[in-house]
Amino acid sequence: MSVPGYRDMPGQQWDPRQPVDTREAEDFLDLFHRENPQRGDVRERLARVVDEIAETGTYTHTYAELVFGCRVAWRNASRCIGRLYWRSLVVRDLRKVGAPDEIFEELVRHLRLAGQRERNVIRPVISVFAQHVPGRASARLWNEQLIRYAGHREPDGLITGDPRNTQFTETLQQYGWRGKPDNPFDVLPLAIEGPGGDVNLYDLPEHAVWEVPIEHPTLRWFAELGLRWHAVPAIANMRLTIGGVDYPLAPFNGWYMGTEIGARNLADPDRYNLLPVIAERMGLDTSTERSLWRDGALLELNRAVLWSFDQAGARISDHHSESERFLAHIASEERAGREVPADWSWIVPPMSGSTTGVFHRYYHEADQRPAFYLDSEARDLGRRGRSPNTAEPSEAPPSCPFHEPTPPATPPEPRGWFGRLFHRP
Ligand code: ARG
Repeated sequence: MSVPGYRDMPGQQWDPRQPVDTREAEDFLDLFHRENPQRGDVRERLARVVDEIAETGTYTHTYAELVFGCRVAWRNASRCIGRLYWRSLVVRDLRKVGAPDEIFEELVRHLRLAGQRERNVIRPVISVFAQHVPGRASARLWNEQLIRYAGHREPDGLITGDPRNTQFTETLQQYGWRGKPDNPFDVLPLAIEGPGGDVNLYDLPEHAVWEVPIEHPTLRWFAELGLRWHAVPAIANMRLTIGGVDYPLAPFNGWYMGTEIGARNLADPDRYNLLPVIAERMGLDTSTERSLWRDGALLELNRAVLWSFDQAGARISDHHSESERFLAHIASEERAGREVPADWSWIVPPMSGSTTGVFHRYYHEADQRPAFYLDSEARDLGRRGRSPNTAEPSEAPPSCPFHEPTPPATPPEPRGWFGRLFHRP
């Protein structure tokens, strides 16, 4: 979906041929030593880094720098409401892993570590693969998240599944993937491109994909809709940049806030578009907007999501609690002498905004590094992939992987494919 007023952040443009900018390395090392005084004198480290850059065009982070860099990239993510926990991010150092088969194995391990169904645990994890070397191609992942559902276009044009991923699904089909075209929650394979440009598709094993069936605490019929969602949101196409060094493959996950699923993924008119179906089952008057049937249906869908995740032991936060935690995070950061960059249009939840504390204030916006960036090529690959017969991905409208800002004023016409999904004999 194209979002009016969306601007690329400055760091989203990058030139993969340029050597590391020593000023960026210096800023980062200063920050690292300032916040970790036990790590010794920054001047010594900086002198070695400057030499390394002069010789090779880049430098290698120590493990401690890498861990700190990842955590601060999260701390700086101005669109994320869940940053109170930035210090708890588990960092997997996979900088030596570069072959597609091994990358896939490690991504499966990532998902198993991040979401432990048997122990009812979901925790934030990042897997950092090989750093970018100026002028050299690196392995990459096309998928925007490790787990996403296919959007299968049927011959009559209706879509089964998540319309967000229709083009991506079609590209994967050009590479021979079939999937299960009548399953509305058909998990997409991972498309891993090796440094030589070869693309390999990998199906995720069932044990790596924790899914939660959606039921409602009081509305019995809700379960009959057959809805489900995956428990672990793992962003896979953002470039991590730390002290001038880029990590093009560094997937990371947190846990869900209910509204991401209940007020966006399952509700948006250009996603699963379920509000008309739910309102009808609830017996609401859909002939007039003034019955607020959309709002009524939205509320029950969101109660269902939270309740189902709780039943399944899958960690999920609600927007009221997460809003309070974010305000606590701002307060504790301010006590530490740091400002929290934040983007109001992303921080305010997509339902009941004014009932949350985060609505009633302004924020300071800034592009601080270390950071995660979604550059246009990765964004494009995540939306459509690269078809085997075109060298360059085609221009796609900008999009964002977190819960997105307010959609355009005129949403596309509901296409009625939910009717097909949920009323099939
Ligand atoms: N909004 C995205 C989705 O629904 C996930 C973005 C990351 N969210 C998170 N809670 N860490 O799939």
